[in-house]
Amino acid sequence: MKIKFGIIGFGFMGHIHEKTLNSIKNAEVVALCDIEENKMKDAINKNIIKTTSVDEIVNIKEIDTVIISVNNHFHKEVVIKAAEKGKNIICEKPAAMSVKEFDEMTEEVKKAGVKFTVHQQRRFDVDFRTAKEVFDQKSLGNVYTIQSKLYGINGNMHDWHVYKKYGGGMLYDWGVHLIDQMLFMVDSKIKTIFADLRNVINEEVDDYFKVLLKFENGITAEIELGTYFLADKPKWFERHWFIGGDKGTMYSDGFEPEGKIARTTRLLQNVPGKTTMTASGPTRSFGPPAEGVLITEDLPKVNFEHIMFFENYLNALEGKEELLVKIPEVRRVLAVMEAIRESAEKGKSVDFE
Ligand SMILES: NC(=O)c1ccc[n+]([C@@H]2O[C@H](COP(=O)([O-])OP(=O)(O)OC[C@H]3O[C@@H](n4cnc5c(N)ncnc54)[C@H](O)[C@@H]3O)[C@@H](O)[C@H]2O)c1
Repeated sequence: MKIKFGIIGFGFMGHIHEKTLNSIKNAEVVALCDIEENKMKDAINKNIIKTTSVDEIVNIKEIDTVIISVNNHFHKEVVIKAAEKGKNIICEKPAAMSVKEFDEMTEEVKKAGVKFTVHQQRRFDVDFRTAKEVFDQKSLGNVYTIQSKLYGINGNMHDWHVYKKYGGGMLYDWGVHLIDQMLFMVDSKIKTIFADLRNVINEEVDDYFKVLLKFENGITAEIELGTYFLADKPKWFERHWFIGGDKGTMYSDGFEPEGKIARTTRLLQNVPGKTTMTASGPTRSFGPPAEGVLITEDLPKVNFEHIMFFENYLNALEGKEELLVKIPEVRRVLAVMEAIRESAEKGKSVDFE
């Protein structure tokens, strides 16, 4: 039997959802809703029900699940309307603008007894899963630093994402993914959060952040994102992972990660200083390693794609799997985002869990 979906908000993400669901054999998009009628003209299924009214689409009986891909500031209102009509819900990220809003939404969802999850499909990104695989294999020894970075070029921020009232800004946009990935990978309480959050060139919303999460298990994770960097090497610029442990280092660049795992046959933690010449002068600690000391390995190959988010969702509806993206996890990410804003405002770290 096909699960019938309705999509509310048929812009950039709404179109992607229609295309994705169209490629899954036990899913079918039966209705679309967008306040701008013309956005729905290019729907794949020409006979699909189209409406400009949220009240109308949530009243369509055959719809099992609605996907909510309207601008961020409308999520709460639309989620509650859908829950009241007994629809299962997949909401776009960030689920809400604040923890308080999220709690109000989840209360209604619980009352209605419907399924509710958030589209954190970047848990299936190949670059992230490669880093997570290395981390999970525990072959780097005691990991003490993880860096996750994303750099955009030339300050490209678009449409409503540059306005505060619609839930714009990079923390709400990519920030929520990068934080979600980190918390999905590192299973430990966060002790403190320090953040620098800036509007480098945008008037209303943040377009740069650097966040340090100090976990109880000793790992410090750094997440950095900026849209306003200028460089002519997009591949190097787009995405980085770096994991440092006492037995190895993992590094990768790009969404299709290029990098290595490096280990050593012999640590040099207490040796007589040996001077080597480098371009920046003579050094004893920062010269190249001696021949044969470093061993590098290829990164593990992982097999993940975004469609797996929906495969998990459909399996969860049938009771075959748990939902991957759970309400407490979504709430925790939103709470981290609030702590980031607080830290940035105060200019110092804040205690967390
Ligand atoms: N998961 C991801 O990777 C990802 C990527 C991009 C965007 N998003 C999220 O998807 C959502 C939409 O972002 P987008 O970039 O597609 O924006 P968009 O502007 O392209 O699309 C939003 C659509 O919603 C419609 N809309 C707005 N208010 C509405 C309402 N009350 N009722 C019905 N329709 C309404 C707009 O007319 C527009 O067509 C946001 O929450 C965003 O954060 C997620």
